Amino acid sequence: MKKLQPIQTLSLVLIFIFSITGILSLNSCAPTSAISAKSGVQLWGENCQRCHNTPSPMTFSPQQWETIGMHMQTRALLTQDEKDKIVGFLKSSR
Ligand code: HEC
Repeated sequence: MKKLQPIQTLSLVLIFIFSITGILSLNSCAPTSAISAKSGVQLWGENCQRCHNTPSPMTFSPQQWETIGMHMQTRALLTQDEKDKIVGFLKSSR
């Protein structure tokens, strides 16, 4: 095999380092298990009173909570999973 020039060796090392940091940073975008393990009631308590007092689960019907959930998901910048958990909690505690 032809001996590599120093610049070629350097390029290979750089490609290697960039791939590793790329893979590591992709990995860090996944929510930690601590966040994804949060329950609906916990997410409700943490997110739904940032802008207003949260009406009690009794205030609206399950159908209304579905609609409100979609509306507030976009306002509160919640993920689908977080919204589903919160709406699930609101519907089940009536
Ligand atoms: C970023 C701010 C913000 C967050 C966070 C937020 N809301 Fe709201 N919410 C609003 C605003 C503004 C309104 C009134 C205007 C509207 O309906 O868009 C509102 C209205 C509501 C209403 C209607 C109240 C009524 O009497 O008609 C309900 C119910 C509600 N929010 C529930 C929630 C729940 C549940 C969450 C948590 C998932 C939440 N909100 C998170 C801003 C927010």
